[in-house]
Amino acid sequence: MKRTHHCNELRPSHAGETATLCGWVHSRRDLGGVIFIDIRDREGRTQTVFDPSDLAPELFALAGSLRSECVVSVTGKVRARPAGTNNPKIATGEVEIHASSLVVLNYAEVLPFPVDDPETAAKVNEELRLQYRYLDLRRPEMARNLRVRSKAATATRVFLDEQGFLEIETPTLFKSTPEGAREFVVPSRLHPGQFYALPQSPQQFKQILMVAGVERYFQLARCYRDEDLRADRQPEFTQVDIEMSFIEREDLYSLVEGLLKRVWSTALGMDIPTPFPRISFQEALNRFGIDKPDTRFGMELVDLTEDFRASAFKVFSGTIAQGGVVKAINAKGMAGATQGQIETMTDYAKSFGARGLAFIKVEKGEWKSPIVKFFGDVEKEALRSKLGIEEGDLILFAADQWLNACEILGKIRLYCADILKSQGKLVIPPNRFNFLWVVNFPLLSFDKEQNRWYSSHHPFTAPVDDDIPLLTTDPKQVRGQHYDVVVNGVELGGGSIRIHQPDMQKMIFEQILQIPSDLVKARFGYMLEAFRFGCPPHGGIALGFDRLVAILCGTTSIRDVIAFPKTAKGTCLMTDSPASLEPKQLRDLHLECRVPQKD
Ligand code: AMO
Ligand code: AMP
Repeated sequence: MKRTHHCNELRPSHAGETATLCGWVHSRRDLGGVIFIDIRDREGRTQTVFDPSDLAPELFALAGSLRSECVVSVTGKVRARPAGTNNPKIATGEVEIHASSLVVLNYAEVLPFPVDDPETAAKVNEELRLQYRYLDLRRPEMARNLRVRSKAATATRVFLDEQGFLEIETPTLFKSTPEGAREFVVPSRLHPGQFYALPQSPQQFKQILMVAGVERYFQLARCYRDEDLRADRQPEFTQVDIEMSFIEREDLYSLVEGLLKRVWSTALGMDIPTPFPRISFQEALNRFGIDKPDTRFGMELVDLTEDFRASAFKVFSGTIAQGGVVKAINAKGMAGATQGQIETMTDYAKSFGARGLAFIKVEKGEWKSPIVKFFGDVEKEALRSKLGIEEGDLILFAADQWLNACEILGKIRLYCADILKSQGKLVIPPNRFNFLWVVNFPLLSFDKEQNRWYSSHHPFTAPVDDDIPLLTTDPKQVRGQHYDVVVNGVELGGGSIRIHQPDMQKMIFEQILQIPSDLVKARFGYMLEAFRFGCPPHGGIALGFDRLVAILCGTTSIRDVIAFPKTAKGTCLMTDSPASLEPKQLRDLHLECRVPQKD
């Protein structure tokens, strides 16, 4: 039974040797009295042949009784396959094992879904896959994803170790700091009525490690956020969390570029060009309508404000008179959109706050649109030259305040790209990775409802030095020393140079963010105190490791690269969590449930 080779190892050069393979019955075919069984293990598969003419009848019967996914050990002579029967699709396709013994290590019941056929497997409902995740993970694509993840993690560790980083674990029983996303809390048994919170990120601990003199820290850190889930968000996820002392933004950019270069070359054997282009937050919004632009295709936003300032079309000129802008995109090749499709698109834009979505379809040399009649020749010429209008184009407009107009068209740009992709009109080359840095984000954003400023990222981000005087006079204009690394429209990671002066940090908390000083003391007092005992200038970043692996694996859902992910409702279908507690457990935790407990 002792395995001599794995199932992706045997080649014609092994012919004549005796081999023992262990694995799962991938498939069984009974052909003309001979039984062919493909044995699969983690590495691949190999064909074994059970021939009744030279096998004990019980053994042959046993082989005939095997169902898919039974666990077996097969021993026999390796031989080249007869001419014309090679399988070029698998690495072991030129050989087979002529079985002389078979041990059934364990039986398998009929599976809830097949794992051997990628076509059928791809159609299996995700809930069923998550319920039987261990079977799902046997599928070669999923097994590959786990392998890529492991390789990426190892490459990260090796690279950061070479760069002098220490891997340090920080606590996952932390305390509530309700500034960011909603948290998961853990009741304390020993301290009645008190709670830990699971960390949203190791942010505070990693900064404290800089005060502790660690200088270069990293961790593949598990983070917990109780937020609404999407394909690219999970309630628990992993960050490549990094912090460094005595650095400026440039040092961080080159470190992360080097790290991603290493990960891409290890996992995909691909060289990604560095340095990555940089674009300001302002420019990203102006050109792509989003702070994480997908630059693999054009369809950029064009500003038409000056061209329509005096327009007879009041929707445009009126918006401009109120300080707004007019912007447009040219969705090339989409003039064929029907009235219904344009209405659907307009409703989609309205769901993001658009007041309308004016359009021009260019068909048979004609500009078809309910609004063109308001446009003068100069306006038409401006459109023609700025948008490069040609036959077949669909021009879409947003007139609104700057940020709204950008964001609406940014969403519509991606929406149109999806339609064009499905029609084969927008071809983004595979294996194309457009990395970029987005920089100079506003440090603060204004919350109209609460009538106060809040941090665009987190309160530890340092302002750009030149903008510090504006903190008290014009907070909106203050840029943060924050950076995001983006690839193909995905925010892969974000970080910043931090505030390291205790007085500046206190001022941001109390005067700018208006957190009452007793609350500042309760939540962040230990940090402010630590900063007074010799805090080096420092900064860092966190890369979303699940997103990184999803991109490497070419999937859009991070669930595909997490061994045991949660559903969109935050449940684990395999273990059936979350679940109720026994009354005694609740009592021990000093808790009482106000809703009936499920069985
Ligand atoms: P931030 O909140 O931007 O920064 O998170 C960093 C990166 O983590 C990933 N990410 C997620 N991935 C999966 N599921 C989620 N729910 C989720 N939320 C975030 C993203 C994101 O870019 N402490 C700071 C970093 C720093 O300043 O150093 C932080 O956590 O890819
Ligand atoms: P209306 O004059 O409201 O009938 O609008 C005429 C066209 O302009 C329609 O196609 C609307 O969808 C579009 N429209 C209205 N408001 C806006 C706006 N703020 N930005 C872009 N298009 C708009």
